[in-house]
Amino acid sequence: MKILVVEDDNVQRDLLVGALKKEYNISGVPSGEAAVELLQREVYDIILMDMNLGTTDGITTMKEIHKINPEIIIIIITAYGNVENAVNAIKEGAYDYLTKPIDLTKLKLTIKRAIETKQLTQENKILKTEIGEKYGFDNIIGNSTAIQEVLNQVARVSKSSSTVLILGESGTGKELIAKAIHYSSLRTAYPFVPVACAALPDTLLEAELFGYEKGAFTGAQQERKGRFEIADKGTLFLDEIGDIPLSTQVKLLRVLQEQEFEKLGSNKPIKVDVRVISATNQPLEQRIKEGTFREDLYYRLNVVPIIIPPLRERKEDISLLIEHFLKKYGTKIGKTIEGINSEAKEILLRYNWPGNVRELENIIERAVVMTRNNIIQPDDLPKTVLTTGKAKDNFSIEYMEKLHIEEVLKKTNWNLTKSAELLKIHRNTLREKIRNLHIVK
Ligand SMILES: Nc1ncnc2c1ncn2[C@@H]1O[C@H](COP(=O)(O)OP(=O)(O)OP(=O)(O)O)[C@@H](O)[C@H]1O
Ligand SMILES: [Mg+2]
Repeated sequence: MKILVVEDDNVQRDLLVGALKKEYNISGVPSGEAAVELLQREVYDIILMDMNLGTTDGITTMKEIHKINPEIIIIIITAYGNVENAVNAIKEGAYDYLTKPIDLTKLKLTIKRAIETKQLTQENKILKTEIGEKYGFDNIIGNSTAIQEVLNQVARVSKSSSTVLILGESGTGKELIAKAIHYSSLRTAYPFVPVACAALPDTLLEAELFGYEKGAFTGAQQERKGRFEIADKGTLFLDEIGDIPLSTQVKLLRVLQEQEFEKLGSNKPIKVDVRVISATNQPLEQRIKEGTFREDLYYRLNVVPIIIPPLRERKEDISLLIEHFLKKYGTKIGKTIEGINSEAKEILLRYNWPGNVRELENIIERAVVMTRNNIIQPDDLPKTVLTTGKAKDNFSIEYMEKLHIEEVLKKTNWNLTKSAELLKIHRNTLREKIRNLHIVK
């Protein structure tokens, strides 16, 4: 919660800011004009405003503030005996009023009540939209008990702010689920901020998460906000959390514990209200045993675990997913695809899906682009899927993945950037796979 004190008396202003700065992110300005100017740049939740601001009239300032942000809560501070003035202000949209000298207990109570009211209005707003559409829920396809259970969990956790850890192989839909949680939560009016932790080198990751002051390191030419600050009141999605270095893990633990951090190169703590959702395809418990992942951080992140099973363990979802992607890409590309023939579908059902839903999506997209028919045929499917999907014996997942990567590499003439793009994986991940799967030119 961010509070702004608008008070022309410097002593009074400092006293108010001082009394509340432990509990809230609070700052002060000396005039109505300064307040209006600031509110055009920054979002605040609550305004504590003196009615007698010298030059400007309190009611006018209030109206201007509400024009900028109709949802902001304004609490009026007025001289004792000037209740008439306060009543007017309330008629004009102020939330409540307090008389001078300010009773701190009463002030804190009024703020608390204001916050509750604000949350309630937000909740109502969400309930209203919920009737119309189901957020990300509509895009999550699957009738397997596994997916239905995941959806139940999403619905249950979304109304709270608890930390969620999403576990699942690559391409199972971890980011999709994280978004569904955010967009069905009370935080939906605030940002969903993803961070691909594995894609960044250690030092850049910290700069990205916490931000930095000008001159904090070579190249820091101007101050920058970190993702934690940007995600204030919203959700921070830490993707590939298993890959972050131990030094950053320590800092992360502290933010989770205290909801407070410092920018690189600064010792001024910044308070934030951020819900953290993290995801990984790594066995974190094993990483803990190896000493590359902190156990205390694991427990902090893993308050609510959501496990998304691989597609090969919920093959009953494949048919619905095929239909969904045929429609999606048919519309996108402008082709009317009526369906898929039974032989082609059989092949897809038999395939082992090492790349999970993402791989299925890519294959359907490719089929829609390639096909000359309005019903997808086996010929429209990639060779790897054909050979492994047709084969009676079960190949290993690694082998199928290897075939698929080899095919893509061949197609792009071993252009790693292009291949990584087609495979929708990071270039470094591709390099690693080439090495681990012993793929040679
Ligand atoms: N149940 C589902 N219904 C519809 N689409 C899905 C489903 N699961 C995944 N997808 C789609 O598959 C693709 C991959 O999903 P997502 O990016 O969420 O996976 P991920 O688990 O984060 O993968 P990675 O670990 O590789 O980052 C996305 O385009 C997503 O929309
Ligand atoms: Mg992802």
